[in-house]
Amino acid sequence: MRRLIFASNNKHKLVEVRAALEGIVEVVSLAEAGLEGEIPETANTLQGNALQKAQWVWERSHTDCFADDTGLEVDALGGAPGVYSARYAGEHCSFDDNIDKLLAALDGQRNRKADFRTVICLIENGRECYFEGRVDGQILSERHTNGEGFGYDPIFMPDRFAVSFAEMPLDVKNRISHRGLAVAKLKEYLEK
Ligand code: IMP
Repeated sequence: MRRLIFASNNKHKLVEVRAALEGIVEVVSLAEAGLEGEIPETANTLQGNALQKAQWVWERSHTDCFADDTGLEVDALGGAPGVYSARYAGEHCSFDDNIDKLLAALDGQRNRKADFRTVICLIENGRECYFEGRVDGQILSERHTNGEGFGYDPIFMPDRFAVSFAEMPLDVKNRISHRGLAVAKLKEYLEK
């Protein structure tokens, strides 16, 4: 089967992406590809970061690869934390630190609208191609979790659902999520 290196060692993302691309391509993590080191993520757009991560892998492996970058865009915060979602509460902060900071920033705020947006950059034979997915929803006022998910999942409730991402079975999240939708477009492209 065709192999694609995924520029991530995030276990949650690997599980999600592998499940979505099962039977189409073998998704290889950075560790499995023998690639070590910190991938730079210094662009100020999701597309720029996805490209930077995919290029880092391509330059070292000359193997077809893809990378994703995701941002949580909160309406009342003018789209923040956006491209800075991972480091919202500071360098090396935890998911909980980010959630605490966001809940504090939205304390008393009635506009809870937000979206998750993912951009995937695929590099195939040295050429780039992009796929985007987006899901709209609300930021909850406290954590709702069954222990599923990661990142901001406990406080994000997608539109038309009454539960947070962290309360959903993975297959449901994958079907409707930002990354799920972006990966579905990647899958459609790879199947052609
Ligand atoms: P990344 O740059 O794609 O790793 O995503 C940036 C940050 O967005 C991550 O550190 C997470 O905090 C958050 N994030 C990305 N994807 C998800 C998701 O599916 N659920 C919740 N948070 C996410």
